[in-house]
Amino acid sequence: MSEEMEAPRSGAASQNQPLDMEFVRAQFPPLDNGWAFFENAGGSYVPRQVIDRMTTYMSETQVQPGAAYGPSASAFERVDGARRLMADMINAREEEIVIGPSTTLNVYVLANALRPLFHEGDEIVVTNQDHEANGGAWRRLSEFGMVIREWEVDSVTGELDPADLDELLSEKTRLVCFPHVSNLVGSLNDVELITRKAHDAGAWVCVDGVAYAPHRRMDVKAWDVDFYLFSYYKVYGPHIACLYGKRGAMTAARNQNHFFFGEESVPQKINPGGMMHEAVAALQGVADYLDGIYWHHERGNVRDAAMLFQSRLIKVSNLFAAHEENISKPLVDYLLTRKDVRLLGRATSDGSARVPTFSFTVEGKSSAEIVAGLHRKNIAVNNHHFYAKRLLDAVGIDAEDGVVRASMVHYTSPGDVTRLVEALHAVLK
Ligand SMILES: Cc1ncc(COP(=O)(O)O)c(C=O)c1O
Repeated sequence: MSEEMEAPRSGAASQNQPLDMEFVRAQFPPLDNGWAFFENAGGSYVPRQVIDRMTTYMSETQVQPGAAYGPSASAFERVDGARRLMADMINAREEEIVIGPSTTLNVYVLANALRPLFHEGDEIVVTNQDHEANGGAWRRLSEFGMVIREWEVDSVTGELDPADLDELLSEKTRLVCFPHVSNLVGSLNDVELITRKAHDAGAWVCVDGVAYAPHRRMDVKAWDVDFYLFSYYKVYGPHIACLYGKRGAMTAARNQNHFFFGEESVPQKINPGGMMHEAVAALQGVADYLDGIYWHHERGNVRDAAMLFQSRLIKVSNLFAAHEENISKPLVDYLLTRKDVRLLGRATSDGSARVPTFSFTVEGKSSAEIVAGLHRKNIAVNNHHFYAKRLLDAVGIDAEDGVVRASMVHYTSPGDVTRLVEALHAVLK
């Protein structure tokens, strides 16, 4: 927590207060479409606040921002104001975040920006648990003489053991790339512990937070990470993504933008092509939405204008975590009753161990046929390797048929989960 931030007040949104599902679900228009939606790890629905902010921006200020005339000045304030909130959301400084088209592209640009800092024989640790977004661009640096060392998952659970990292680290290690949570396994990796190990070896870390971000508050300063990435379209926003880099690391990285952006131009030099203005402005709607949850559950309290958005998110995150744990339990319990099911990651709904992204296979049935059966019952799920192909190869699952993945977020209702479990039971008969 940064120094100027207040400790969270105790109030109506205490540990035991449940998330008001009626209030939450009313914010998301597609939740009325008849489908029980379990493809959230692919991309979340957006609330009305985001749709409204984008519509307003495009209706009123779709001009080049930053000139002195009225609509242009307003456009700048909308884009810049949203950026400031997004920095606050993860406890970063404004100049430490790049908002680019996707996490995949942000990693690609970052890898090119860091490449000149590395020398032949320097080592990068990557995992086979990662989505390829935080793997491929780093692995390609072997073409420039970097040595790639792979931190491997357990071949049964798909989990990473931080103890295995120790033997991969040396004075040659420059960077350790790993996921905060795998988009298939769901178990939480201990980001602080892994970061400490990497720092002790003199290396930076680059953490893929895409599968973590929809579920919990992010605090890049508390974790002390050097680079952290996630995608707003999985965090109730438009299809754009965030790259956080510590100020010093961002400054050291080399300019990937036009020549006239100097090496001090952070973050512009890491964002070639600039931002998608209407989508960045719409990120204000993500803050509106999350803040709306806070104030709805804190309506008995006197509004404290000095409290930072980041502090309010502590309570929102606690509400989400408790709800997600509750709704996961019936699915985990059901899967555990079945001898023919193989579930990746921790076989628990415990929110301190995992997020509610559940990937499984069933003996004697293809994942594709299970998914087709679930679609017939209006359950939205999918099967694939979901771009974590190396992971499925490592745990011996056919990557083409892949796993069935059912992923939940805070707007998933207990009723949705009941529908999923009943439909699954019928399909697996
Ligand atoms: C864990 C993880 N990392 C990275 C990505 C890639 O994100 P983007 O689509 O923004 O490139 C995804 C997308 O599914 C993901 O799940």
